[in-house]
Amino acid sequence: MNKNSLLRIGDLSKKEIMEILEDANVFGDIHKDWQLPQRKLIANLFFEPSTRTHYSFASAEHQLGAKVENFSPVGTSVEKGESLYDTVKTFEAIGFDAVVIRHKENEYFKELESLEIPILNGGDGSGNHPTQCLLDMLTIYQEFGTFEGIKVAIIGDILHSRVAASNKEAIEILGGEVVFSGPEQWRREDWPYMDIDEAVKWADVVMMLRVQNERHSEAHGMSDEEYLNSYGMNERRYKAMKENAILMHPAPVNRGVEIQSELVEAPKSRIFKQMSNGVLVRKAVIKRAFGYKEF
Ligand code: NCD
Repeated sequence: MNKNSLLRIGDLSKKEIMEILEDANVFGDIHKDWQLPQRKLIANLFFEPSTRTHYSFASAEHQLGAKVENFSPVGTSVEKGESLYDTVKTFEAIGFDAVVIRHKENEYFKELESLEIPILNGGDGSGNHPTQCLLDMLTIYQEFGTFEGIKVAIIGDILHSRVAASNKEAIEILGGEVVFSGPEQWRREDWPYMDIDEAVKWADVVMMLRVQNERHSEAHGMSDEEYLNSYGMNERRYKAMKENAILMHPAPVNRGVEIQSELVEAPKSRIFKQMSNGVLVRKAVIKRAFGYKEF
């Protein structure tokens, strides 16, 4: 595996995470000025649906002057049964310098260890989502200037969420505190849980997660209203948040389920800021993938 791949957040040290966040902030300051010194070919291989991750990677790649190819399995040899390994190995063989991959299998990248080009993980099943995690960390860092002692409540479908898993790892590495909340059937063993009404009062960062219906084996049977009342962000809980606390969600948001629709763009919400930060973080991760240290 290429050493500049990004597969799991836990593969990075605190120092490496902070370097990526600092680079992302520089990209925020210099806007589109820095470009890759050499023309690079990058393929975005999305085997699962995506809007933000896919197109913010594409935006970052284009802004950096890379040549970008977007792959979806429809209409390719994947439909003839070609394996992930053979597909990605093909992209390496035909001249691509790096690939971004999203796939429904947890840790799909384990079968790609012999490849030489950097692999940037755009999400593996319910496993990892390192670039989402980094953009979340950037959003928190911009707000509070530190992670030490920052209290993060992650609320929702914890069991099926790769965002929950990656963010737990990162917050622990960076020195913050994290608790979880949400329906009992979607808890992960041994993770710290708090009642939602306590959690929203306790937290500096309230992070709501999407109900991952596509990963459930059976319907959960709760109506949208029931979910919102029991586990969602409504007016009452929003008012109970600390004055300087922020509201986050990786999106797509099921409006009226995880968050009352009018609160998606409320003053404490950083949901669209997270998306803009996604481009900055992905630029930093691509710069790192090709081993460029300086601007
Ligand atoms: C997340 C994902 O795909 O894991 N979305 C994203 O990347 N912005 C969260 C989700 O789909 O719920």
